[in-house]
Amino acid sequence: MSVVNRASLPNQLDPWKTSTVTVNRLRAHTSGVFSIDLSFEDPDVGKQFEFVPGQFNMLYVPGVGEAAISIAGTNVSGMLQHTIRTVGAVTTAIEKGGVGMSLGLRGPFGRGWPLEPVTNSTAKVSTSTKNDHPKNGDVIIVAGGIGLAPLRSMVEHIGSRRAEYGTVSIVVGARSPGDLLYQDEYEDWRSRKMKVICTVDRASLDWKGQIGVVTLLLERLEISHPSLTTFMTCGPEVMMRYAAKSAINRGIPEAQIYVTLERNMNCAIGLCGHCQLGPNFICKDGPVFRYNSVSALLRVQEL
Ligand SMILES: Cc1cc2nc3c(=O)[nH]c(=O)nc-3n(C[C@H](O)[C@H](O)[C@H](O)COP(=O)(O)OP(=O)(O)OC[C@H]3O[C@@H](n4cnc5c(N)ncnc54)[C@H](O)[C@@H]3O)c2cc1C
Ligand code: FES
Repeated sequence: MSVVNRASLPNQLDPWKTSTVTVNRLRAHTSGVFSIDLSFEDPDVGKQFEFVPGQFNMLYVPGVGEAAISIAGTNVSGMLQHTIRTVGAVTTAIEKGGVGMSLGLRGPFGRGWPLEPVTNSTAKVSTSTKNDHPKNGDVIIVAGGIGLAPLRSMVEHIGSRRAEYGTVSIVVGARSPGDLLYQDEYEDWRSRKMKVICTVDRASLDWKGQIGVVTLLLERLEISHPSLTTFMTCGPEVMMRYAAKSAINRGIPEAQIYVTLERNMNCAIGLCGHCQLGPNFICKDGPVFRYNSVSALLRVQEL
């Protein structure tokens, strides 16, 4: 399994063909969220599997059904990682099945996060009149709750090519300190010069971080070069809308703001129409979109 370090989509395995994978590790987080590490039954299929951070797989439990789950990254042995909230039939079956369970996997699907930082030549707003702009663009990542899962592989991508980026800030919001995902990885992210700031809705007595919604933190975040900043967010739609608004207010061009969307999925390849949002099929045209291409649709409730 490998992460693709280029802008083009990776070679996709046959999207109709389900590959067998095994759950090798299951790690429980809090509030019904858990992470699994998957290995392919056929190592050759595993070697061919490439993905872009932000893409998703369809995980199939025989006799139960299939669910879209974002690729959260790979572990040190290269196994595919997914982080799952137990909400219904498929997710419950995976949690109950646990280590040793066989699953079907189709994927990877969709379009992921932008893999290159904005530069002086690609910035949507001209930066040529200013001479204080860095060579490499800055990145702000904003995640709410389990929304950090599809962004984790992007954090890993940036961490592995850190010199290509300017300032990197990761703002993570959760209901309570115990709900912050991947807490044991924050020190490693910080050691790679990525700023990690956490905020919670409800603090515990020993909580030393921020309290309040992520948008409050965004208002206070230092943004030195807005026209050279890429902004990526995942979480509840209302949070993403406010986060994007806040980014626009701080001068980040709309075309450099990215959100990832969820709708019920079925085929995952743009044929069945289950995931349609206006003119877009989220499985094929997304799940990651430039904010300016979906902002009008996101304002319509229940769409
Ligand atoms: C591109 C994409 C990436 C996703 N990534 C993840 C991930 O990384 N981790 C994760 O836990 N979940 C993720 N999801 C959501 C997951 O696919 C759904 O929660 C899925 O329905 C779970 O299947 P289930 O059989 O367990 O639940 P179901 O029995 O299908 O549904 C349980 C409940 O969730 C509601 N529901 C179903 N699908 C959605 C949806 N897409 N959005 C909101 N509510 C829904 C249903 O109405 C029902 O109330 C993603 C969805 C998409 C489209
Ligand atoms: S899930 Fe079928 S069109 Fe998107």
